[in-house]
Amino acid sequence: MKDKEYTLYNETVMDHFLNPRNMGDVNEADGVGEVGAAACGDIMKISLKIRDGKIEDARFKTFGCGSAIASSSMATELIKGRTLEEAKNFSNQEVVEALGGLPPVKIHCSVLAEEALKAAIEDYEAKQAAKAEAVAA
Ligand code: FES
Repeated sequence: MKDKEYTLYNETVMDHFLNPRNMGDVNEADGVGEVGAAACGDIMKISLKIRDGKIEDARFKTFGCGSAIASSSMATELIKGRTLEEAKNFSNQEVVEALGGLPPVKIHCSVLAEEALKAAIEDYEAKQAAKAEAVAA
């Protein structure tokens, strides 16, 4: 019988899984995005504080697997200080590279981080548009 092959997580992934950065909710968030992966049922929420068109703070809450936790931890680290335009071009590939790689079956966990970030930016922009409309009315 052929031995089973196990794919191990690298040290960076394990570090972000065991010592997640930016866990929790931003106080009085300007934008919040929550997304889920239909395939596994994992859920990720990212909240943002935005000042002068830049992401001042980013935090996450993830109900999911270790690589989803590591991905959201790394994504929130990477996007802090970026402009909204830069953040809109953020891709899960950047998370995968910063983590030093993820097993192929776990790539979708990093996609969740990209989607949660973009949902939070959309939420922020929708709120800004609603505010502008209220002022104009
Ligand atoms: Fe689905 Fe990780 S297994 S987010």
